[in-house]
Amino acid sequence: MLVTAIEARPVRSLDQVRVELEPGIVSVVGANGVGKTNLVESLYFALTGRSFRTSDRRDLIPFGGSLARAEASVRDEDGLERRLLASISRTDGRRHLLDGSPADPATLARNRPPVAVFAPDRLSLVKGPPAERRAHLDGFAAARWPARTELRKRYGQALAQRNALLSRLAAGYGASGDLDVWDAGLADAAAPLVAARDEAIAELSGPFAGAAAELGLEGGASLEYAPRAAGSAEEIRAGLEERREQDIRMGRSSWGPHLDELKLATAGRSLRRYGSQGQQRAALLALLFAEREVLLAARRVTPLLLLDDVMSELDPGRRERLVGRLDDGGQALITAADEQSLPAAALRSVVRMPMPPALPSAAAA
Ligand SMILES: Nc1ncnc2c1ncn2[C@@H]1O[C@H](COP(=O)(O)OP(=O)(O)OP(=O)(O)O)[C@@H](O)[C@H]1O
Ligand SMILES: [Mg+2]
Repeated sequence: MLVTAIEARPVRSLDQVRVELEPGIVSVVGANGVGKTNLVESLYFALTGRSFRTSDRRDLIPFGGSLARAEASVRDEDGLERRLLASISRTDGRRHLLDGSPADPATLARNRPPVAVFAPDRLSLVKGPPAERRAHLDGFAAARWPARTELRKRYGQALAQRNALLSRLAAGYGASGDLDVWDAGLADAAAPLVAARDEAIAELSGPFAGAAAELGLEGGASLEYAPRAAGSAEEIRAGLEERREQDIRMGRSSWGPHLDELKLATAGRSLRRYGSQGQQRAALLALLFAEREVLLAARRVTPLLLLDDVMSELDPGRRERLVGRLDDGGQALITAADEQSLPAAALRSVVRMPMPPALPSAAAA
């Protein structure tokens, strides 16, 4: 599955811009502030309906405007072209359309490549709180096994229900026996979620260590996931029952996969706590590369990797190795302020910015 074109009509500083994308590595080059990140963000927005820069999509609306809109053309393995269009309007809210019609998230996800982003502020994935890593891991599992997409949501719902009852019990209402049904529900939702995470880590560990070594993380890098609640649904249910008194006292669930940590380490030490900036960056890249490698090997989809501003922070040897890794059949967009920082393999397809508007203006359309 390949993205063949992206249009920003408009997004932030980009108005009526259309860029055709080749398979393989595409480099987006231009001076600071010309809109390289805006272009990458437009692509991410068209595909996912979200931004990787902000949780408030209205930030994408041009200053003084009322609408942001991005469209991506995606070609699947059978050569079929589809168009994904995301928009956010101050008056009409947001839309995400497949070939002009509203579609549910699962259908949209099936009709686009899995997409991963490296951007300087995404380092929080390595150095931020565990919740970000859990969400990321669950997102990877959903891309790896589409049938498992709902596991995270199902668990979240079961947890919210059990917690609601716990807070009532903590306030002195109801009987603790009422928890039986919610314990069972939570355990049923927890077991497959933990299993998916376990399997994801088993697949990612080797590729992660390999990519990390190549990017210069010394001492061996590892991914570790040690679930609190492992085993069958029945075992997890028994574990919940054991902690029942404590949970009622606290008014919330104190045990389960919503508290698990995915640990990224080098030489056995947590990168979150002890890693240098450069080590954390290398670890994030290694994780994204590992995911890409696993997805490429496992499914017929071609993952898309968006690398915003990664080159400026790497020495020439690491730039070469990074681009060498991208030359694997997957699609990738790299932004850079100057062409000199890009190895030859990243210069086969270059988009130079700023770009003149390539589409009829909004007023004429
Ligand atoms: N909502 C918006 N409406 C209009 N312009 C915006 C909006 N948000 C950001 N901009 C402008 O977009 C420009 C930045 O674009 P972008 O971040 O894509 O630059 P860049 O090419 O990635 O630069 P750098 O090389 O510094 O990363 C800035 O001039 C900024 O003021
Ligand atoms: Mg930028």
